[in-house]
Amino acid sequence: MIIPKTPEEIKIMRRCGKIVAEFFEEVEKIIRDGVSAKEIDKLAWEIAEKRGGKPSFYGYKGYPAAVCVSINNEVIHGIPDEKKIIREGDVVSVDYGVFYNGFHTDAAKTYIVGRVPERVKLLVDVTRNALYEAIKFVKPGMRTGDLGNFIETFVRSYGFSVVRDYCGHGIGRNLHEEPPILNYGREGTGIRLVENMTICIEPMVTMGNGRVRVLQDRWTVITSDGSLSAHFEHTIKIGDWENEILTE
Ligand code: MF3
Ligand code: CO
Repeated sequence: MIIPKTPEEIKIMRRCGKIVAEFFEEVEKIIRDGVSAKEIDKLAWEIAEKRGGKPSFYGYKGYPAAVCVSINNEVIHGIPDEKKIIREGDVVSVDYGVFYNGFHTDAAKTYIVGRVPERVKLLVDVTRNALYEAIKFVKPGMRTGDLGNFIETFVRSYGFSVVRDYCGHGIGRNLHEEPPILNYGREGTGIRLVENMTICIEPMVTMGNGRVRVLQDRWTVITSDGSLSAHFEHTIKIGDWENEILTE
């Protein structure tokens, strides 16, 4: 059973989401050639703590950092450290969640550092648009399979692939709640979405075939074919006529 959030709970999640949004605004200012992923992690700790929250990911199933920084062929769950240096031409996906007053919110964004080929810009634009179009598409009464089908169809129309091994999720008192929000699916299948559910939609898209594997560190997910990838995510509240993005 998925229990929709009360207005009071959503109020807390809205404040929580603002902290996440503030982090991404700050990342935007510091991300450039020569910056290490560790500096982004430092920012993630500072902002959560300054606002009275905690990073959601630290300690989650043993995850060792506050944020995920995944570069180029890394899709998700890249672990930041000082040796991981961002370079001109990199495609950098940053994923961050905050726990505040009993609730989580979670978002991700892919940054292009410097100049990249047009097709790489397209990859990032398509992934971002897949998220924003999906947010507009979701309506109460719709099923998760309808949403997944919409995202995959959108991505495929540009010749890119969604990653099928990982997905979005419900969110609230737990970082991951029901229902799973897959980036593919069949129309008319899956769990019915209702008003005041809070979910994370997070398309992960690659230039290649979408297959992935996990590195020896047991976290970093990379593309099997070495292709570039992008990842965007927002926490949203499903509304009767419009969905609210809580992490913006
Ligand atoms: N945005 C990712 C998710 O929703 C981040 C999880 S990283 C982890 O699953 F370290 F917390 F697992
Ligand atoms: Co998520």
